[in-house]
Amino acid sequence: MDIDDAKRLAGIEAAKFIKNGMNVGLGTGSTVKHTVIELGRRVKEDGLEIVGVPTSLATEKLAQEVGIPLIELSDVERLDIVIDGADEYDPNFQLIKGGGAALLREKIVAQQSLAMVVVADDRKQVETLGAFPLPIEVTNFAYLSTVRALSNLLKCSVKIRMEGNKPLITDNGNLIADAETGPIISNPIELENEILHVAGVVQVGLFNNMCDAVVLAGSNGVSTHFRTNGRLSS
Ligand code: 5RP
Repeated sequence: MDIDDAKRLAGIEAAKFIKNGMNVGLGTGSTVKHTVIELGRRVKEDGLEIVGVPTSLATEKLAQEVGIPLIELSDVERLDIVIDGADEYDPNFQLIKGGGAALLREKIVAQQSLAMVVVADDRKQVETLGAFPLPIEVTNFAYLSTVRALSNLLKCSVKIRMEGNKPLITDNGNLIADAETGPIISNPIELENEILHVAGVVQVGLFNNMCDAVVLAGSNGVSTHFRTNGRLSS
């Protein structure tokens, strides 16, 4: 199975978590886009009744194209579930996210959701987080100063993500700093707190104690793994 088939199968399998009447967080990325497309198909063909909250402008556009009714997160108390991709996940289901620069909205949506399902291919499964450069959303104001502070804190190279020859601007008008820690993030909860203490940091792409299940696609097919004592484990 090639990687695109794996992503598609995982995305479609994850859509099975969604039932009639749910408020659903719609993640961002090349894997979860298949979930969004499948949910759109079920809305059209099966009469599935859901409302969605997209985690990026790109997902908002896709959801509109496939016919998923959307609401503002501010208009609901809670979402039943969010389905999203990840850049890495460790054995405790802690995540690195933000490879698609959508981490701030993704984290706000995940925080307001009663459960989180991640869709991923098996390249994302790691023993220790950090081989994937850790995305950190930072303010435009004094961003080079924030980058220096992060580099001193993390003792590694931190680079502003570029789009062509200009810094990439997020959906929220901020920048992304990618920290090349290497695979050494053994205490992601402590690291998240330390990074959030740096003024200029808007949010960090460490998603701790949020993910309840991973729908994983690999050469052996698709399998679903539940976090022990997570919100979806029976
Ligand atoms: C966007 C994300 C994505 O979910 C993550 O980058 C995974 O994307 P893909 O499924 O394309 O590998 O965090 O900010």
